[in-house]
Amino acid sequence: MISLLGIALLALTLSGPAVAFFIIEEGVATHGTITKAAVLQKVTETCQAVAEAAGHEFKPTGSSPEELVQACLGPTATGEVSGAKFYSALQEINMQNLLVDRDFSSAPHHFNSEAILEGRSLITEGMAAIKANIRKENFQAARETLGRVLHTLQDFYSHTNWVELGYKEPYVNLIRPDLPLENLADKDTATCSDCASGTCPNLILPNILKEKKLTSGYMGVFSSDKPKGKCSHGGASDLTSTVAPRRGLSKDGRRFRGDKLHDDAANLAIAASLELLQDIRLAAGDNDFLRMMGIARSSVVCFVIDTTGSMKDDIAQARATVYEIIDSKKGTQDEPSEYILVPFNDPSFGPMIRTTDPDEMKDKISKLNITGGGDTPEMCLSGLQLALTGAPSSSQIYVFTDAPPKDIELIGTIFALMGSTKSTVTFFVTGAGRRRRRSLKPGSFSDYIELALASGGQAIQVSKRELPLATDIILDTSTSALVTVLQRARNPGKQETFPFNLDKTLRNATIYITGTSITFTLTNPSGLTQNQNETSGRLATIQTVGNLWRIQINSARETGAWKIQINSNQPYTLKVTGQSTITFSYNFVERFKGPHPGYAVLSGRPEAGQPVTLMVSVIGRKGPLLPSVSEVGLARMSGPEAVTSGKMTDMGSGDILVTFDTVPEGEFVVILKGTFHSEFQRQSTTQMSVSKVNIQAVVSRTLEPGKAFQLPFSLMSQGSGGSYSIIARNDRDFPMSYPKSLNLTTGVYANATLTITPPANTPSGTDTTLTIQAKWDRGADFNYAVLRLSVVTKITDFTPPLCEMVSVLTDDCHSNMSQCESFHWQLSANLTDENGTGIESITLRRGEGNLSHTPLSAPVILANYNSSCCSQVVEFVAVDKVGNVGRCYYAIDPSGGPPALTLSLPLWLCLLVSVFIVRP
Ligand SMILES: *[C@@H]1O[C@H](CO)[C@@H](O)[C@H](O)[C@H]1NC(C)=O
Ligand SMILES: *[C@@H]1O[C@H](CO)[C@@H](O)[C@H](O)[C@H]1NC(C)=O
Ligand SMILES: *[C@@H]1O[C@H](CO)[C@@H](O)[C@H](O)[C@H]1NC(C)=O
Ligand SMILES: *[C@@H]1O[C@H](CO)[C@@H](O)[C@H](O)[C@H]1NC(C)=O
Ligand SMILES: *[C@@H]1O[C@H](CO)[C@@H](O)[C@H](O)[C@H]1NC(C)=O
Ligand SMILES: *[C@@H]1O[C@H](CO)[C@@H](O)[C@H](O)[C@H]1NC(C)=O
Ligand SMILES: *[C@@H]1O[C@H](CO)[C@@H](O)[C@H](O)[C@H]1NC(C)=O
Repeated sequence: MISLLGIALLALTLSGPAVAFFIIEEGVATHGTITKAAVLQKVTETCQAVAEAAGHEFKPTGSSPEELVQACLGPTATGEVSGAKFYSALQEINMQNLLVDRDFSSAPHHFNSEAILEGRSLITEGMAAIKANIRKENFQAARETLGRVLHTLQDFYSHTNWVELGYKEPYVNLIRPDLPLENLADKDTATCSDCASGTCPNLILPNILKEKKLTSGYMGVFSSDKPKGKCSHGGASDLTSTVAPRRGLSKDGRRFRGDKLHDDAANLAIAASLELLQDIRLAAGDNDFLRMMGIARSSVVCFVIDTTGSMKDDIAQARATVYEIIDSKKGTQDEPSEYILVPFNDPSFGPMIRTTDPDEMKDKISKLNITGGGDTPEMCLSGLQLALTGAPSSSQIYVFTDAPPKDIELIGTIFALMGSTKSTVTFFVTGAGRRRRRSLKPGSFSDYIELALASGGQAIQVSKRELPLATDIILDTSTSALVTVLQRARNPGKQETFPFNLDKTLRNATIYITGTSITFTLTNPSGLTQNQNETSGRLATIQTVGNLWRIQINSARETGAWKIQINSNQPYTLKVTGQSTITFSYNFVERFKGPHPGYAVLSGRPEAGQPVTLMVSVIGRKGPLLPSVSEVGLARMSGPEAVTSGKMTDMGSGDILVTFDTVPEGEFVVILKGTFHSEFQRQSTTQMSVSKVNIQAVVSRTLEPGKAFQLPFSLMSQGSGGSYSIIARNDRDFPMSYPKSLNLTTGVYANATLTITPPANTPSGTDTTLTIQAKWDRGADFNYAVLRLSVVTKITDFTPPLCEMVSVLTDDCHSNMSQCESFHWQLSANLTDENGTGIESITLRRGEGNLSHTPLSAPVILANYNSSCCSQVVEFVAVDKVGNVGRCYYAIDPSGGPPALTLSLPLWLCLLVSVFIVRP
């Protein structure tokens, strides 16, 4: 099998920097470490392939996610590229993986209680959903499902007897619904022997081992019942393990069955996770796979544009601005990875247009239609809702309008979405004040100010003529390494001095002030000052347009303690930003109990009246910066100035748990201080507050087009009992029904059900963001839950396309290796997807020759491959319309013997070799 050895050697070089991920050291392997190892390995391989295809070298300086991103983005990424998006994608996958332990106790989710067929269905249905989501570019939904599916897959190796049966490879049939699950122990077959002593190396009955029967442990949290003679899961929370046969199969930690079995299970779980990721990667293609993982150049730029008649001039300006952004960033490391455009007017809004192609974006913007001439309020918030749910989290969204919002009833939903996505919204409002409130009671311009502030953005009011001058702010903020150093708002304004620290790593430090009748003085660490009327001074260059001051601090500037004194009796906002690879991510979390306790990210506001906890990671160029964080605190953006510091606990792998016994009154932000070469400070942008209302809701599965889906949710208040109104919305206008109000007793959960029905023609892979808000009828307290639902057509096609070799014609490549470029070989193969959805794409994965094929619409597709003798291996894949992957592989035997034929070799064989060869 020389051709296999060839693959193995190739794999060895491929996985160079990733070898270390396989070594599970003293510590216990967890879902988190297993998932991270597999994702990093697969991303490394994909980056390597993409880099090679683009003709540049792939040389990570280390194995941290940050260095991987830097190397992956290639030579154009010489500037500040932040690993923050990859880091949060990884966290999102891990969080959903972890939550399976909190939210899903059913046997199939954990391969418990011999639910092996059902467990496999969860995996394969999940994989189909992931592929459908990626096709619709719904990457967040794809990541969430990926996390859950990986949990179940990984549990197989710990909770069944696969390892004890002596298998050294993952069970590929778990991710291949077209292959049967065979030799499962049936209901009446005893599988385990009793273990009275507590330490029994051989729990499994000898005949089970001999016949290689697959079984898993029974689990009972409330009852010790299990079928006669069956194995248990084991552990303190499993009551079934207290009755014979005692003890259990679980290899979750070392204390259960010893080091060897734990390590074997963990290694198989990594290898199995890699196989699953490879299948997704082949179905999605390398670029979309990396986008799902949050590895993309720079930021996503999202425009929400008012297209009413009165906006005619503004649209011309917005157009000019977008063109400028596209042109000035093209080919630089700051080139946006995606553009999103949402038009709105009255009475319509949308659709959302998204593209990665800058020229297509220009084209779409040039074709924006101006409709109606009405000087009336517009559907601005509806447009903004689409943008917030469609853009990835932490995006920068820019809204252009000249009218107040008409759809003000959406404002609560918008606050909830801003809170859960952490996206920043900046409004460019032209002609403010020209149009007044209407009798139909729409919102007002001050709503824009409030929304901007809640998300950490700004509301910029300019005349139409001045709009181009204001849009520099878009160029400043559409960079992937943007950080906020300080943001504050004062209403009413007063004289106040704001200190802030500019660290060594910070570039392009810029201060923005919005407000009227402002004077200010900027002071550097050595005491030099500059005030607002020196447009080009010793410290900074100052521009002013409308209500906006933009103060660009000179690049040759001092590091350390700066301050700005602002003087105004009008409301104002202050924001200090820059570009830096030192940034942080944070989530408000709550602890959950059970057999596998942990911390879960909150989708709404934290609960009032009890300690608030945050999970924080500080990300530097080479991985987490743990020891250097000196303070994590909560502060009010709108004063008075005071910081509540939290108690920090190192949770390992770069995470810090921060606990606050009390939180500031009202809305607050997270601030962080530390040292890296010099002192640095960072601030979160999204405002948060606590609430006495708590909403719990878990989405258990995907929706089907045309079918009603029932989502149970429950509501509890620690505050006053009484009537709470419920408002639920989804961004696709799927019909919903739910109780509009619930009567609560303090401290008691009230249960309710929401029914949502996606129309029958909803395309598979569509996702929708559902927000459920609950508000006390007699006060301002309100909370929300934000859930992402995917609609996936029930998949019936599980057969991958088939590859059948027709002919191979080859020169004597072996004897002519020295002049290989003048000798050739060619191969042709028939590709079919009989009974399936049909082949959608055929791509060359390995080999330097040319691949061509006959039209995909025919039932049999003929593929032809031509190559010089210099490249002796070819691999190409055919993907059908639902993402089943078929593979063609051929290698010319370098020993000169007859060609080794490895047609339709299962994917895993190749992978396994790579996995096992690299292990020390
Ligand atoms: C603008 O209107 C034209 C003609 O009615 C239509 O073909 C085009 O699709 C519209 N463009 C957009 C972006 O809606
Ligand atoms: C940021 O600063 C660098 C020089 O340090 C400069 O080349 C670049 O144009 C600046 N970027 C922006 C958006 O101002
Ligand atoms: C600049 O502003 C300061 C007050 O902030 C004032 O004293 C000074 O006269 C101004 N200078 C000019 C040249 O306008
Ligand atoms: C809510 O429940 C309380 C106690 O069960 C009851 O007294 C009150 O009338 C109810 N309120 C409404 C609006 O149903
Ligand atoms: C709501 O459901 C939970 C479990 O899902 C149950 O424990 C609780 O008693 C229910 N509450 C009410 C008021 O029915
Ligand atoms: C390949 O397909 C053609 C029809 O397109 C058929 O005539 C031929 O027999 C097939 N060859 C093999 C090996 O299946
Ligand atoms: C397609 O379906 C037919 C009839 O059910 C069956 O005989 C044939 O084997 C199937 N082909 C494949 C490739 O599964």
